[in-house]
Amino acid sequence: MLAVVLLSVVCSLAAGSLPIIHGTVGAPWPKPHEMQHILPGYLTVDPDHFSFDVTNNNCDILTEAVKRYKDIMFNAPRAPKSKSRVSWHTASGFLGELTSMDVDLMEPCEELPHLDMYEGYNITVIDGSGTISSISIWGILRGLETFSQLLVPSGDAYLVNATTVRDWPRFSFRGLMLDTGRHYLPLSKIKDTLDLMAMNKLNVFHWHMVDDQSFPYKSDKFPKLSELGAWTQNQVYTADQIASVVEYARMRGIRVLPEFDTPGHTLSWGLGQSDFLTPCYLGNKPTGTYGPVDPTVEANYDFLRELLTEVTGRFKDHYIHLGGDEVPFTCWESNPNITTWMATHNITGDYAKLEEYYITRLLDIVDNLPKKNGYFVWQEVFDNGVKIANDTVVHVWKYRQDTRWKEETGNVTAAGYRTVVSTPWYLNDISYGVDWYKYYNADPQSFNGTLAQKDLVMGGEACMWGEYVDATNLTPRLWPRASVVAEKLWSSQDLTNGPMATAQATPRLEEHRCRLLLRGYDAEPLWPSYCDVNYD
Ligand SMILES: *[C@@H]1O[C@H](CO)[C@@H](O)[C@H](O)[C@H]1NC(C)=O
Ligand SMILES: *[C@@H]1O[C@H](CO)[C@@H](O)[C@H](O)[C@H]1NC(C)=O
Ligand SMILES: *[C@@H]1O[C@H](CO)[C@@H](O)[C@H](O)[C@H]1NC(C)=O
Ligand SMILES: *[C@@H]1O[C@H](CO)[C@@H](O)[C@H](O)[C@H]1NC(C)=O
Ligand SMILES: *[C@@H]1O[C@H](CO)[C@@H](O)[C@H](O)[C@H]1NC(C)=O
Ligand SMILES: *[C@@H]1O[C@H](CO)[C@@H](O)[C@H](O)[C@H]1NC(C)=O
Ligand SMILES: *[C@@H]1O[C@H](CO)[C@@H](O)[C@H](O)[C@H]1NC(C)=O
Repeated sequence: MLAVVLLSVVCSLAAGSLPIIHGTVGAPWPKPHEMQHILPGYLTVDPDHFSFDVTNNNCDILTEAVKRYKDIMFNAPRAPKSKSRVSWHTASGFLGELTSMDVDLMEPCEELPHLDMYEGYNITVIDGSGTISSISIWGILRGLETFSQLLVPSGDAYLVNATTVRDWPRFSFRGLMLDTGRHYLPLSKIKDTLDLMAMNKLNVFHWHMVDDQSFPYKSDKFPKLSELGAWTQNQVYTADQIASVVEYARMRGIRVLPEFDTPGHTLSWGLGQSDFLTPCYLGNKPTGTYGPVDPTVEANYDFLRELLTEVTGRFKDHYIHLGGDEVPFTCWESNPNITTWMATHNITGDYAKLEEYYITRLLDIVDNLPKKNGYFVWQEVFDNGVKIANDTVVHVWKYRQDTRWKEETGNVTAAGYRTVVSTPWYLNDISYGVDWYKYYNADPQSFNGTLAQKDLVMGGEACMWGEYVDATNLTPRLWPRASVVAEKLWSSQDLTNGPMATAQATPRLEEHRCRLLLRGYDAEPLWPSYCDVNYD
């Protein structure tokens, strides 16, 4: 705490005299649950004489991962031409050369990452050959990442301490949301984000695909949606491109959770699908503007059934996010047909009931698609009292200015629903200065509730809304700020919740930012600092 207070005092007095932060050397991020230097010594690793040896089960995910990690470790795009020697490189601690790591996958690979996937792993580095072991391919992937971070460049080689690691995630859902409705994001940027997620052990890419401003999803069944709703025909996601993202993510143990948000946030849908949206009225005349989905038009439900059949076929995950946030009632209120419809359904004046009617129909559709799905909804669906299936995940996002999100999480879990928390982690909401302490200090289980309620917290998700973000600034705005959320969701609660937590994380976060920069990603600086990287 002291260090934190000190730093902020210094900041407010004179921005020019911020303390210099020195990064750790070879400390993994997020921090493993258990890590020990079993012997006081280190090994050397020579890239030309090092291999990963798959000794047990194998599969395409593992074969690719082993290749990828050799590249990540030894061919970093911004590796300095001549590497400095680290200070603990003394003759007395030298234990020998590490020429191989056994990769021991104890059970056959699973095909797809999923909500309950096992991600624990062990690492042992003692002498000439070490081991990365797990019962699950997803654990092996996390272990390879940790191992890659233990290596420290020194002179012509790398050093690694004699170390054992035993590690597992605190939460099973560790998400990151990108918004391709406000700005198109090229596939290359989405894939960079997936690589960076893997480097931070995040495991769910929530793809907020479409919004009021654009509809880049290219549907085969309803081609007009993107023909009229996308920014341009070059800025769409085809079935093949979506498949390539899902596959890229799968290879890294990352799930892809698509979101098709309705009934609000749908203006772009209306361009390619007539009668989908509610015409707004002034007196008895249409104004020419549109509001949310018109829930009184029966054909809209057939359309949604067909579209969502296609969507859930393209995305392999069990879950789909159905949105349901921020539904404005004024347009519905102005429309005479809706007034009439509500009267005949005995809900005159109760627009929350109209919303409930729509959502109930939508959930019923999703329950009966050819592929069985679970669903996420934004918290308003719960707040409005809509009846939802018991396996619905309620996504908490509101009340960013105060602590009511904790009460909300308590309410959601008291009702027996599982939840994912995003409120404290709106990374698009930027400000000057060191802004990550608040991300690190927020804990998704810090609400008043029983242990059973706490267990219903599946994890959290960092959101990057896209109004002011496109390919130019996505990576620096996300990283290393999303890394902070990643450690919060992976590492031990004891590590990340104490009064000294941010001060203790600081030098490791500095190293991690330099690591991401070295690996070729434009992760932004956290404070005045220096990374040993080669920029040309
Ligand atoms: C490796 O061990 C040395 C000596 O015990 C220690 O000074 C150094 O910080 C360790 N490095 C890492 C990356 O843990
Ligand atoms: C990891 O290590 C722990 C304790 O050292 C052991 O109980 C566990 O079985 C190990 N798991 C794997 C997958 O090797
Ligand atoms: C209202 O319903 C009538 C009859 O179904 C239809 O012709 C008209 O276009 C509708 N108007 C609006 C505003 O939806
Ligand atoms: C509306 O209320 C009337 C009178 O109470 C009832 O006869 C009718 O069945 C109700 N309609 C609907 C759709 O619930
Ligand atoms: C939902 O209810 C079903 C049947 O009552 C039960 O088997 C299942 O475990 C419940 N799921 C959740 C997530 O509560
Ligand atoms: C939580 O539930 C209580 C009791 O229903 C309610 O008074 C309160 O407003 C709810 N809190 C939030 C943040 O919705
Ligand atoms: C938990 O409840 C106590 C006592 O009612 C209250 O003082 C505290 O602020 C609550 N904490 C949270 C995080 O809501």
